[in-house]
Amino acid sequence: MNTNIESILNEHRVFTPAATFSGQAHVKSMEDYEAIYQKSVADPESWWAEQAGHLHWQQPWNQILDWSNPPFAQWFLGGKINVAENCLDRHVTAGKGDRIALRWEGEPGDRRDITYSQLLEMVCRAANALKAHGVQAGDRVLIYMPMIPEAAAAMLACARIGAVHSVVFGGFSATAIKDRLEDSKATAIITADGGWRRGNVVPLKANVDEALTQYDGVHTVLVVKRCGNDVTMTEGRDRWWDEECAAVAANCPAEGFDAEHPLYILYTSGSTGKPKGILHTSGGYLTGAATTFRYIFDHQDSDVFWCTADVGWVTGHSYIVYGPMANGATQVMYEGAPNTPDWDRFWKIIADHKVTVFYTAPTAIRAFIKAGDQHVDKHDLSSLRLLGSVGEPINPEAWIWYHQKIGAGRCPIVDTWWQTETGAILISPIPGATPLKPGTATRPFFGIDAAILDETGQECGPNEGGKLVIRKPWPSMLRTLWGDPERFKATYWSEYEGIYLAGDGARRDEDGYFWIVGRLDDVLNVSGHRLGTAEVESALVSHPAVAEAAVVGRPDEIKGQGVVAFVTVKTGVPTSKELALELRNHVAKEIGAIAKPDDIRFAATLPKTRSGKIMRRLLKEIVSSGEVKGDVTTLEDFNAVASLQGKGDEE
Ligand code: WT7
Repeated sequence: MNTNIESILNEHRVFTPAATFSGQAHVKSMEDYEAIYQKSVADPESWWAEQAGHLHWQQPWNQILDWSNPPFAQWFLGGKINVAENCLDRHVTAGKGDRIALRWEGEPGDRRDITYSQLLEMVCRAANALKAHGVQAGDRVLIYMPMIPEAAAAMLACARIGAVHSVVFGGFSATAIKDRLEDSKATAIITADGGWRRGNVVPLKANVDEALTQYDGVHTVLVVKRCGNDVTMTEGRDRWWDEECAAVAANCPAEGFDAEHPLYILYTSGSTGKPKGILHTSGGYLTGAATTFRYIFDHQDSDVFWCTADVGWVTGHSYIVYGPMANGATQVMYEGAPNTPDWDRFWKIIADHKVTVFYTAPTAIRAFIKAGDQHVDKHDLSSLRLLGSVGEPINPEAWIWYHQKIGAGRCPIVDTWWQTETGAILISPIPGATPLKPGTATRPFFGIDAAILDETGQECGPNEGGKLVIRKPWPSMLRTLWGDPERFKATYWSEYEGIYLAGDGARRDEDGYFWIVGRLDDVLNVSGHRLGTAEVESALVSHPAVAEAAVVGRPDEIKGQGVVAFVTVKTGVPTSKELALELRNHVAKEIGAIAKPDDIRFAATLPKTRSGKIMRRLLKEIVSSGEVKGDVTTLEDFNAVASLQGKGDEE
């Protein structure tokens, strides 16, 4: 049997960066990229040390990398750094204190502009308030906040005093908070009374209260007033952020911490079992976030950057807080939903704030396509110069829409591959240099030795599918799983000796471009052919009737697995047996009969995680047993599953 993943999607369109873009970019041509890349991988330690040198170190390191005890890496040993000082004080000292750090917009339409000087004062006061309540370096602080400037300030306040933050996405429940408190043994919480989401108040403080009925290790809860909703304040434990911040000094010295001092723990779901606490540390992480931000988003002083992620995800950590702020960037931050009050909200924000660089996720792009072009057409998007995508493979048709409709054919798209674990982008175009092909994250970033290996550990040939790995350590890599070094070794380092296993299936094309074909646990096996889910889904999405598709295998006596496709259609398109047949034939035509779905099931919505990834595991359960029994705590909307159970339009 063939154990490698076969890759069958054919996508041959190529888009080269416009001379007007390349001319002013940090990297201006593919020749320049190749030269820097070759140099960087010939000696990654020197290359990364050069990048780390752009940060402010209170004490220089005496060893760039210690890899004597893999997989436990240590970067910039002996160096002392304060992450918050690098993100704030440095710019104020350089005379850029009046530069706007955040152009914030609340969901109801309220606005605040916050300069770097103002943000520095907010952070210092919050840091002093934490200290006043006994929070010390190394203590864990759980942050459960809406997307308001205080969320970034809370993270930076922890960083300033060496406390380890663990941000929990504001859409998660009390149970998720409790689990993360127990695992991290956090002693303080920063939250808000509530946050606005689709016109409603999310009761954040009430969720914290519920979690704290089952965990008693928290001595202090700081509460930001956002919505003015009623909350219960527990005497001696709960305090208002504004009162506490007003009562302390406006400056807080930035103590230097060891480069390997823990910066944050961020929990991410594993395929089974409890969430994994990904640990990132200080000097290496900041080097990775800052360097990738500068090159991949081609950061220029005149840019207005907008990353639509929530700070509860790693994207918000690396590309709202640490990467952009280490570069002194001006950013838009938005609190609410993309469809409040209507589906044009994002386009209105881009027009109002003259956003130049826009970074979002394929799941959002597909939702915008489904909602219709009329929402885009209402607004002037001519300020945009660069677009980005992250989170999943972007289907080529969605890429083309993003490029044409949002970017007017003018803006390069950086399809950025990375993970919570990698801390920073590892595979991505460099926008002034890399010729783009829709659907691929293209080439590795500088200093990154990415490869695709087969089952025996051999490197795969061109267009042969295999497992995506990183062969050399990089500064922003996770250091361990919090409290579970054995699981860290088993999950990422046990497949190949000394090599990081990402858990994604991928292939490299004849130009060395990486195509992610899906998570390894989602791989299909049809008649002995291992197929990635992404390619079959992209073929379906390339049909004009289809908005979104998710493909899973179900046991099949003859083929091993049959292919079942869950499909949502664009608004207004009627579903029928004829359309199902047409879609099956469309896949056969696009990628071959082997991938032809045996069964097409039309669905109103697909089950997704809170961060927008399709939960194929649940769909697999539905097709094999008709119901879902597994863990659904990370599911965004249970109705999506309820409506699919037991229902199938079998042919
Ligand atoms: C997984 C990591 C990294 C920030 C958000 C997600 C998938 C991510 C891409 C991309 C194809 C992608 C991978 C990866 N993924 N970006 N550009 N193309 N797949 O972080 O929740 O840790 O998920 O997301 O499967 O392993 P995460």
